[in-house]
Amino acid sequence: ASGLNAAAKVAGKLYFGSATDNSELTDNAYVTILDNKNEFGQITPANSMKWDATEPERGTFTFNSGDQIANLAKSNGQLLRGHNCVWYNQLPSWVTSTSWSKSDLLSVVQTHCSTIVSHYKGQVWDVINEPFNDDGTYRTDVFYTVTGTDYISTALQAARTADPNAKLYINDYNIESTGAKATSMMNLVKSLKSAGVPLDGVGLQCHFIVGEVPTSLQSIMQQFTALGVEVAITELDIRMTLPETQALLTQQQKDYQSVVAACMAVEGCVGITVWDYTDKYSWVPSTFSGQGDACPWDSNLQKKPAYNGIMAAL
Ligand code: G3I
Repeated sequence: ASGLNAAAKVAGKLYFGSATDNSELTDNAYVTILDNKNEFGQITPANSMKWDATEPERGTFTFNSGDQIANLAKSNGQLLRGHNCVWYNQLPSWVTSTSWSKSDLLSVVQTHCSTIVSHYKGQVWDVINEPFNDDGTYRTDVFYTVTGTDYISTALQAARTADPNAKLYINDYNIESTGAKATSMMNLVKSLKSAGVPLDGVGLQCHFIVGEVPTSLQSIMQQFTALGVEVAITELDIRMTLPETQALLTQQQKDYQSVVAACMAVEGCVGITVWDYTDKYSWVPSTFSGQGDACPWDSNLQKKPAYNGIMAAL
C-alpha cells in the first residue's frame, strides 16, 4: 500500500493520523497532504476543542474552530479524535479563578463534557488529559484540588451518557516506560474498571527524543491492554537537538520504526497519530529551545527518512 494510513489499514490497524490546527488550514500545500487519506485516516485538533476554545464563558459554547477541523475530517472520510474534555492547561479563567464547591465544579465538568461530546458524536475522545505529575502523583490542578479523583469518573460518565458510541480515553505522556507514572495510570484504570466507570482506552502520547525511545513501550502497551482497555499512540513526535545531521535523521528513522513496530506487535494498539506531520508546524521548537525537527515531513513538506521508518514497521 502507498501511504501511511493505507499501509496501517492493510496491517490491521484502524488508522494512521495527524494532529492539525486551524491556523495551518490556509496553507494549501500543507492541506493537500493532510487531506490525503492514503497518508492520514484520522485527525486530531491540536487546540480548537480544548476548554478555552469551546466554553470560554460558563455555559457559552463556541464550536466554530472545532467544527472547521471536524468538517475537514468528515469531508475527507477521516476519523476524528476529540481533544480534550478535561485538562489542567488551556482553561478559561472562569474555571481556574472561581473558588468552587465540589458539587458545583463537578456540575461544570459534567456540563462541559456532555456538551462537547454530544456536539461531536460518534468519535474518540480524550476525556481526561494528563492527570498525573511525572512522579505519579495527581496534578494538583483545580479539578483534583476541589474534587479529588471524582472529576475523572464524572467526566467519563458524562461522556458515555452524551454519546454511548464514543470511545473514551485517558491520555498522558511519560507513561510509555516502566515507572511511577505508568504504574499510577494502571492503578487508575483498574480502579475505574472495578467501579464500573466507562473507559475504553489509554492514550500514550509518545513525545520522544531521538535515541531515547523507551525499550519498554511494547510491554507497557501489553500491560495496559491486559487491564481490558485498548491503547493508541496519540501524539507521536521524536525531537532532536538542532542542528539536524544525517546521523540524527538516521537514528530518528530507526526510532520511528521501533515505535510503530511496538504498536504493530500489540493487538490492542488500534492506531497511531503524529503530533502534526511536518516540522513546519511542530509545537516542539517553541517549547524546547534548541530542539526540533521531530516530525516525519520536513518544514518544506518533504518526506524525511523517518517516513520510511514508519513504512518499514507497517
Ligand atoms: O491562539 C493564540 C494566538 O491568538 C496568540 O497570538 C498566540 C501567541 O502566543 O498564541 C496562540 O495560542 C497558542 C496556541 O497553541 C495556538 O497556537 C498558545 O500560545 C500555545 O501555548 C498553544 O500551544 C499548544 C499547547 O498544546 C498548549 O499547551 C500547542 O499548539 C499544542 O500542540 C499543544 O498540544 C499538547 C496537547 O494538547 C497535550 N499533550 C502535549 C501537547 C504538546 O504540548
